[in-house]
Amino acid sequence: MNLTQYSLLIQALRRQNYEKRPPVWFMRQAGRYLPAYRQLRARYSFLEMCHQPALIAEVTQLPIDILGVDGAILFADILLPLEAFGLGLQFHDSVGPVIERPLTPESNELPAVSMAEELAYVGEGIRELKKTLKVPLLGFAGAPFTVASYAIEGKTCRDWRKTKLWMLKDPTSFHRLLKTIATATIDYLNMQIDAGVDAIQIFDSWAHCLGAVQFREFSLAYMRLMIQALKSRGVPIILFCRGSSVFAGEMTAIGADAISIDWNADITKLRRWIPTAAVALQGNLDPDLLLAPPNKLLQEAAVILDGMYRDPGYIFNLGHGIHPETPVDTVKALVEFVKSR
Ligand code: CP3
Repeated sequence: MNLTQYSLLIQALRRQNYEKRPPVWFMRQAGRYLPAYRQLRARYSFLEMCHQPALIAEVTQLPIDILGVDGAILFADILLPLEAFGLGLQFHDSVGPVIERPLTPESNELPAVSMAEELAYVGEGIRELKKTLKVPLLGFAGAPFTVASYAIEGKTCRDWRKTKLWMLKDPTSFHRLLKTIATATIDYLNMQIDAGVDAIQIFDSWAHCLGAVQFREFSLAYMRLMIQALKSRGVPIILFCRGSSVFAGEMTAIGADAISIDWNADITKLRRWIPTAAVALQGNLDPDLLLAPPNKLLQEAAVILDGMYRDPGYIFNLGHGIHPETPVDTVKALVEFVKSR
């Protein structure tokens, strides 16, 4: 019997959490705000850490031991498939990710590679973790639109100009690119499921740069493709995008088990439009509140917790990832607050 199936997190993803409190975990809970993470990073580069199964397992486990959260998110990155495609991936401390050979409309071919083989080290990390981990393990991948935008822009950007101009001027080749990335990502996620993840989160972090029509055509359509391909595996799928407070209705309609809501929305109001019968909701505290005075933080957390009280399909989380400058003790206090409700 797999005990994680009876955990608060998996029950909430199935909209069947009848306990008093919701489960809690955080996006970027395994990152630089943790002194224990920074100590490891002093010895290894970020990519070295991503490539080594023993380190994947060690870092993934850190926030479980330090914070006592109800779920673990695999330590990896949404850009690892771009490295596997041979585009050249580096992480620079001040800049973030850099793609050495970005795609252009003129040179847009990605080689046929097996993600299950190229990223086998991720699967090994998952197997290592599953030997001892006491909470459910979330696997993840980037959604095709966001991964494509990194492949084109070459780094984190503000206006997505190259991506959007390609998309609008040559939609045929842009769709071909999205399809190739989607197929590879499905292969990658199937491998993660084979290795033992209990749930999956798909990150379309940059979808908020799209208007409604383009969102449907270039972002939502490929998330749907992925859900359709993975649904039969029986592992709950959470969709996250910046812009989810605007697009939540459409994200529900494509069959996600849960939607992770950005911090712009009043999640309680959103729940009135999108009932528990339709989808689980995750979110949505502004990560900046972890840098606010503690009483302000807990006051805002209480607004969300009160509004979602006893919703069997609710998971407490942030609207986006934890900032590196966040004090660990503040995050711990927030976890204790959620658990004491
Ligand atoms: O703790 C976790 O959430 C698990 C691991 C995780 C990382 N990246 C580790 C990481 C996850 C789920 C991601 C997803 C990811 N990566 C996204 C989608 C989520 C989002 O934030 O919208 C994106 C866009 C990326 C790409 C990426 N990776 C960026 C933009 C950066 C640099 C900026 C930053 O936040 O550090 C990274 C690096 C990265 N990914 C770090 C970690 C722990 C920091 C690396 C370091 O140690 O220097």
